Amino acid sequence: MTSRNKSRNRNGDPEEMEGSGATAPAAPHPAVAPLAFLLGKWRGEGEGSFPTISPFRYGEELLFSHHPSKPVISYTQRTWKAASGEPMHAESGYWRPLPDGSVEVVISQSTGLAEVQKGSFDAEKKTVTLQSELVGNASKVKQITRAFQLVDGELSYVVQMATITTSLQPHLKALLKKI
Ligand code: HEM
Repeated sequence: MTSRNKSRNRNGDPEEMEGSGATAPAAPHPAVAPLAFLLGKWRGEGEGSFPTISPFRYGEELLFSHHPSKPVISYTQRTWKAASGEPMHAESGYWRPLPDGSVEVVISQSTGLAEVQKGSFDAEKKTVTLQSELVGNASKVKQITRAFQLVDGELSYVVQMATITTSLQPHLKALLKKI
């Protein structure tokens, strides 16, 4: 029988310590480490716009979570109307940073739309930029880009989209604080 008490594998990666009652160290998986600045819960406000709609303000919470044994970040987002708190759009997915500095992200939206995003990250500048490789089950949306940046400890992002009638331009901008 192999030991149930694991500590670190030969790469020095932390592993769960089953049965020992101990909690594994919180160091992220090496693949996730460059994006560790995203991990945790974020909350803030954003504004939405597009040439075809009236501008609106929304509240938002993002959660980037991770287990040290997996090279992936789980992502959930929910939004609400800034004025009333009534739920708006929500989405969830998985972020997979790769050793070459690229990242692939899958997202399913509460509207039924599915995205595969690919892009790159800069661990020093704490930025991630994504472009849609695939937008599925969408009647209007042709393309989506997402750009995240950590500035003075706050997470800001811009989401742009192109639709069948409108070229690529901003739909969402938000600024979130770690909670
Ligand atoms: C990548 C994510 C998103 C995509 C692809 C998307 C897509 C769209 C599209 C295609 C439209 C209609 C535009 C048109 O008819 O020309 C729209 C409108 C709208 N979106 Fe988004 N959206 C996203 C995220 C969000 C989020 C997070 C919120 C809320 C916080 C939101 C709130 C709205 C609102 C309020 C409208 C106007 C609806 C109306 O006038 O009936 N969207 N969105």
